[in-house]
Amino acid sequence: GAPIEVDLAPIQEGQIINVFWRGKLIFVRNRSEKEVKEADAVKMSELIDPQADSARVKKGHEKWLVVYGNCTHLGCVPIGHSGPYDGWFCPCHGSLYDTSGRVRRGPAPTNLPVPPYAFQSDTKIRIG
Ligand code: FES
Repeated sequence: GAPIEVDLAPIQEGQIINVFWRGKLIFVRNRSEKEVKEADAVKMSELIDPQADSARVKKGHEKWLVVYGNCTHLGCVPIGHSGPYDGWFCPCHGSLYDTSGRVRRGPAPTNLPVPPYAFQSDTKIRIG
């Protein structure tokens, strides 16, 4: 599939938009400073699939989270801004994700993966 460009300018703080690349759903989330801090403060020992938030976002663009939008258990679409970790709640079997898209309660085994993407400017990313 060809790369796609996503204009970030219209995405309000706190908002999550859905885009599709190669037929796959991707969430683009404009995180608040509080959400970024929460994600950053989590200890690796608390995580099911340990990964630092800094390894999941681009340096200098930490407010932007870009992750695949299907639960890593059986592929349902988790609901944003839901659940105790303020990330996503999967309505199918109850998996919880945090503001970095990391799994915090199963049955999902792994974090929402980050697709390949790069910033073209402060307000534009290219996925793919
Ligand atoms: Fe999400 Fe099963 S598909 S918890």
